[in-house]
Amino acid sequence: MKTKNLRQLIPALLISGAAFLYACGGSGNDASSSADTTSNSAASTAASVDPATKSDSKGVGKFTSVQLGPIDDAMAEKGKAVFTAKCSACHKATDQRVVGPGLKGVTQRRTPEWIMNQITNPAEMEQKDPVGKALLAKYLTQMTFQNVTDDETRQILEYFRQNDKQ
Ligand code: HEC
Repeated sequence: MKTKNLRQLIPALLISGAAFLYACGGSGNDASSSADTTSNSAASTAASVDPATKSDSKGVGKFTSVQLGPIDDAMAEKGKAVFTAKCSACHKATDQRVVGPGLKGVTQRRTPEWIMNQITNPAEMEQKDPVGKALLAKYLTQMTFQNVTDDETRQILEYFRQNDKQ
């Protein structure tokens, strides 16, 4: 059963690989540049997203629905402490870049789910999410998981919301 599946899979992979190469290699003429836009390969998705612009992606990870209320200052205070301890080596809460992007305005350009998935699941986000891929391509450094709990992650999100309100 397994080998039969493989035998069917390999030619299919070869064909799609060849189609991909054809689409990319031949971008000089009109016929294949339209193939480029319709084939929409992973590589062209990454290149087409500007990580500075707003995205509605929820990202990849366990957070699929985050409910927001009015900003909770006590929660934001806790988030700020976690941010200072675990994130400030690579990020500032201003628009200034350090190792990673400045995080001022992050709640305006990303969804709450995306932000929490980025904090808890950065490796997969860099591989699978269009914005995550574009960020890695731009900053050329991988963000690593900082052993934050889900509660701490939510507190950091609250801190970002408060920071963006000012
Ligand atoms: C080792 C350095 C490093 C640490 C530590 C780090 N990050 Fe990052 N972070 C990055 C880099 C580099 C990127 C951009 C590339 C990527 O996404 O992989 C990034 C991207 C992000 C983004 C996306 C920003 C945007 O413009 O969309 C958020 C949000 C973020 N980090 C939050 C955090 C939080 C919160 C922490 C602490 C829990 C943290 N990071 C710890 C390096 C780091």
